[in-house]
Amino acid sequence: MHKIAVLPGDGIGPEVVAEGLKVLNVLSENYSVKFDFQEFDINSERYLSTGKLVTDDDIGQLRKFDSIFLGAIGDDRVKPGVLEKGILLALRFSFDQYINHRPAPLWKPFGRLKRDVDFNIDVFRENTEDYYIGAGGRVSNGKGKLDLRVKRQLYDMKVTLDANADAADDFAFEIGMMSRKNIERFADHVIDFSDLIGENYITVVDKANVCSNIYSLWREVWDDKCRRAGKEHGYMYVDAMTMALVKNPDKFRVIAVPNMFGDIITDLLAEVTGGLGLAPGGNINPKGISMFEPVHGSAPKYKGMDRINPVATILAAKMMMDNLGRRDLGEVIFKGVRGAFDKGVYTQDLGGKATTRQMGDAVVAAIRSLK
Ligand code: IPM
Ligand code: MN
Repeated sequence: MHKIAVLPGDGIGPEVVAEGLKVLNVLSENYSVKFDFQEFDINSERYLSTGKLVTDDDIGQLRKFDSIFLGAIGDDRVKPGVLEKGILLALRFSFDQYINHRPAPLWKPFGRLKRDVDFNIDVFRENTEDYYIGAGGRVSNGKGKLDLRVKRQLYDMKVTLDANADAADDFAFEIGMMSRKNIERFADHVIDFSDLIGENYITVVDKANVCSNIYSLWREVWDDKCRRAGKEHGYMYVDAMTMALVKNPDKFRVIAVPNMFGDIITDLLAEVTGGLGLAPGGNINPKGISMFEPVHGSAPKYKGMDRINPVATILAAKMMMDNLGRRDLGEVIFKGVRGAFDKGVYTQDLGGKATTRQMGDAVVAAIRSLK
């Protein structure tokens, strides 16, 4: 029995999650697997009516589950950052999900490049540090003190910043930070994954030519880890990387990237593979509770229209099965999606006519026909 906490979230989240659950349910009808789903209303509605983001009680409840299956978080009625940091990032950090795995295989025939080029990339985005730590603030009139705190499973750190400028202006800080032990465990995971797929080269992305404090530590760890593991690796600056992913995606197989740049290049790469409607992600803690979600957001303007592509969420369910040790069932979901596409069923974002529900139904039908 796999205990799954389901967080449909905001906007189109509930619609796509419903299709993901449809697919998981057809697995339990046809294969030896059982799920116990429990839904949580950790979302913008609850925030707007009660002021609650993620509470300690929520975290305590969620700890009882094997995995978290999430739709999307985000609402136009709330100031940017409140829900993102208070819910999504709070969940990633609370469960110490330090790896964000975003597979990006080309989905034929939906690839968006003019040139016919085949590729299959796995991006690993660091998921708890970098410019995402939420440490920063403002000093007015050039003077002020910021008492900052970064609390993670690996450490609880206080940082004090004393600013004293000779200009009476307003200054805002956003501090990026990485820690050696976190980079080490992240690199270990990426190296293990490349071993698993028989790949000997890792492309490591950063901007060490400008942010040389933070990314020299990052590089030091990568050099050391790869040397010990006998892995080849090479560095790419993120600006050149965005170009290369459009020009020659077939040159890459495994990519490791810091949190902020990873956010950006995974949207870019999703578009190259066929669109955000096809891109899933796993927030992974190899020894803890992982969380699976589509890369796309809550797309409020499409809410309730039954037109959003649920495949990213269905593929997030596939990643969840892989992570729960059922790669066999992950493969079944993958074949279900491929089968539905091969029958010519796809949603509007891909140039098709299927509704959200019809797309889910087609995947379910394709899975049934595998038996
Ligand atoms: C993502 C999203 C989030 C991120 C936001 C909503 C905090 O863009 O999952 O890619 O930046 O990680
Ligand atoms: Mn993003």
